[in-house]
Amino acid sequence: MTQASARSADEINLADQEIFLRGEAHDLFRILRRERPVHWSAPAASALSGFWSITKLDDVVQISRNPELFISGHGITMQSPQGSTQIQNNPILSGRMMISTDPPDHVRLRRLVNKGFTPRAVRSLEPHIREITTGIIDDVAARGSCDFVTDVAAQLPLAVICELMGIDRQYWQLMFELTNRVLGSSDAEYQTEGDTVGTIEAARATAMQGWGRMFEHFMNMIEERKAQPRQDLVGILVNADIDGEQLSLGDILQFCALLVIAGNETTRNAISGGMLALAQHPEEKQRLIDHPELIDTAVEEILRWTSPVAHMARVATRDIEIRGQRIREGERVVMWYGSVNRDEDYFEDPYRFDITRSPNDHLAFGIGEHFCLGAGFARLEIKVMFQELLRRLPDITTAGPPELLRSNFIAGIKHLPVEYTPER
Ligand code: HEM
Repeated sequence: MTQASARSADEINLADQEIFLRGEAHDLFRILRRERPVHWSAPAASALSGFWSITKLDDVVQISRNPELFISGHGITMQSPQGSTQIQNNPILSGRMMISTDPPDHVRLRRLVNKGFTPRAVRSLEPHIREITTGIIDDVAARGSCDFVTDVAAQLPLAVICELMGIDRQYWQLMFELTNRVLGSSDAEYQTEGDTVGTIEAARATAMQGWGRMFEHFMNMIEERKAQPRQDLVGILVNADIDGEQLSLGDILQFCALLVIAGNETTRNAISGGMLALAQHPEEKQRLIDHPELIDTAVEEILRWTSPVAHMARVATRDIEIRGQRIREGERVVMWYGSVNRDEDYFEDPYRFDITRSPNDHLAFGIGEHFCLGAGFARLEIKVMFQELLRRLPDITTAGPPELLRSNFIAGIKHLPVEYTPER
């Protein structure tokens, strides 16, 4: 039986990535919220742990606001291997990645780059972000059709994060390919030839290759900045000082990887998913064209609707009960943002896409200690993209079904054919 026909929580295991590839997750989330909002899944493979699926908003808030009890340091995805010695013994891989650190380290690392992400810093880049967006639309406007993901949605977040980091223009496409390999490693499209495509081994090899190439690239950038200081994000990390201590090479490499991955793979899917949602709800699209002042609430609804980060995980540091279920010390809890953002207890008519929804306190960016550092940029990029698109190509719509990413970590769209009246 496929899980699509699951009628009870017992039949559901969200480790199965096919669920996400086939777009069935929301049906299963609905069953879990109703029947078993704190739900255990047994390990899918010997190297992995079992995990608790958390599907109600209240519980995700409680977990995220309690970083001493639910830590990120033992892995932030469902698939994180249990205490791998290979990682601990490798000076590069053992660097600290902010998103996988806990207090007090976490806040010290976050402070190093905070300044580049303040509302003011984001606002000051709006004209430039509009300029980049205009260039992206110029490139496709006369064609009448394109692949919305690769030609449009991917281009803006890629340009913004690469510029912030100081990555040369000639390497932007490489970054796109490498972050796809890391986060899309389970998808056959990103697996490299020679791998036994579709297997766990192929996924591991693809991800490792992506990480390796990325680290190699950042290693060169670090060397360049040591020789010649620069004020981009990589330069700031090279010169960073935490109470008299410098970051290790591993710390800097992990930081760079986090920024390029998080900046790239998330906003792209919000923009692609937003395009799809608008095409599927033409009355809402028309409302946005007629009332451009609705753009801010439309952006929030796109974020709620698409929830581009599918899950984040934590590990319990002691036994605790949630909704009567005993979570034991060392067990993994997986917070499903797509589910909490359709929680019936919080969102009226949650399956309706409504660009005027208010209030709309979604958790697409998480909450608490690790609240998304790039939320301001993401919101602005989505806003500017839809402002410009609907102004210049108002009849843009889909010309075929989306091709979804095989992943339960990123709610991704790999390709989305669109068509529109060519601009003259
Ligand atoms: C729509 C786009 C985005 C979504 C949905 C998203 C989602 C998230 C979520 C859910 C977290 C919380 C992780 C947790 O609690 O464990 C997070 C953290 C983070 N995000 Fe985003 N993100 C987006 C865009 C961006 C962008 C554009 C950047 C960088 C420019 C970025 C950088 C980060 C970083 C560095 C963290 C870690 C923060 C920390 O550990 O304190 N994100 N993001």
